Amino acid sequence: MPGDKSISHRAALIAALAKGSSHISNFSTSEDCASTLSCLMKLGVLIEREGNNVRVEGPGSGRLSAPSEPLECGNSGSTMRMLAGTLAGQNFTSTLTGDGSLRARPMKRIIEPLEMMGVHVHSEDGKPPLTIEGRASLKGIRYDLPVASAQVKSCLLLAGLQATGRTEVIETLGMTRDHTERMLKWFGVPVETKASTDGFDTVTIDGPASFAARDVNIPGDISSAAFFIAGAALLPGSKLEIEGVGLNPTRTQFLSTLQSLGLEVSTRAAYEECNELVGTVRVSGGMNRESEEQRRSNVVNGALIPKLVDELPLLAVVGTQITGGIEIRDARELRFKETDRISATVKNLRAMGAEVKEFDDGLAVAGPVRLRGAKLDPEGDHRIAMAFSIAALLADNESEIVGEDCVGISFPEFFDLLDPLVER
Ligand code: S3P
Repeated sequence: MPGDKSISHRAALIAALAKGSSHISNFSTSEDCASTLSCLMKLGVLIEREGNNVRVEGPGSGRLSAPSEPLECGNSGSTMRMLAGTLAGQNFTSTLTGDGSLRARPMKRIIEPLEMMGVHVHSEDGKPPLTIEGRASLKGIRYDLPVASAQVKSCLLLAGLQATGRTEVIETLGMTRDHTERMLKWFGVPVETKASTDGFDTVTIDGPASFAARDVNIPGDISSAAFFIAGAALLPGSKLEIEGVGLNPTRTQFLSTLQSLGLEVSTRAAYEECNELVGTVRVSGGMNRESEEQRRSNVVNGALIPKLVDELPLLAVVGTQITGGIEIRDARELRFKETDRISATVKNLRAMGAEVKEFDDGLAVAGPVRLRGAKLDPEGDHRIAMAFSIAALLADNESEIVGEDCVGISFPEFFDLLDPLVER
């Protein structure tokens, strides 16, 4: 798998604030991570890229340069939210903008806590473009995350890195991916995660921190692998092994859920790469009858949701093939992704003949059903396009995916890798 998108964003942003030159290998090929690199270049960071190898050299003092034009984040919420935290501690004003999808996404979730840290952020209705009046005198805060979002947590940790005093972020609604914490530690920045007495994780960083460059090798992207894993697990007779894939426990819930649904998926953690667990995933097509009988409930909800948030549309597709179907709840956040992923999943599943109920915070799909090929509209959302490519493989007849190029947002190689694996 190409390098993990979430980890690549963080490696580039943190390397840009470090002293010296960091070499990043297996950097994500996604358009989103290219947006992060191009914004950093406009901020005076020296970046050389040859394929998946990227060299990042920050200005050394942790101080970036004021950009001469708005910073274009494209389709990437991670770029905008994490860069906002990075820019909050810089002594200049900058504007972050993006494509139509990104300009419709909620940013109050970062504006409010950043303002508590002493920075002014201007926006209309809490939506991009955002103009950030950065300042070198940020102060650390203690903040309960009102949404379970790793992007918001990371925004505050990157601001906290440059602030005076302690920044504490409390994950009241469940633990989200912890790549920022791990990458900061890799660069030698002390970040602590503790379960507090009330059972919530609190992440603490003391600023201002200065740190040196370090080389990074990015693990394969588990969220990209997920499409192949689901396809192989559902198509009887398939055998698939993926090596070098990231197995960070805050990202592997999709695999655990497939296992609990009776699908034959196993993992073997092999080594650590920049504080991230890496290993092999093995999949055999077809159901494991024994666990299918043991199964009690096909409901995915609560604190599990942030741990498989990007895989939920794909999980709904999986649900169409499983006895008892699947119900996904507490996932209202999906409505604020690159598109409204609840609505897009429901529409496309219905177009394929599935029986689906839509809830404000999720959906329930009946299974098993025979899907039929259809014209599918991912609404420009990469993960919907890939989830429904897998649905199309499971369906009778042909399907057409409108605007399939959007897969490049996270996984430009998707169709080229998938095509030779499919037996016709
Ligand atoms: C991401 C966090 C998630 C996820 C997104 C990437 C990250 O978003 O959906 O694709 O890299 O931190 P939220 O943190 O907003 O839930």
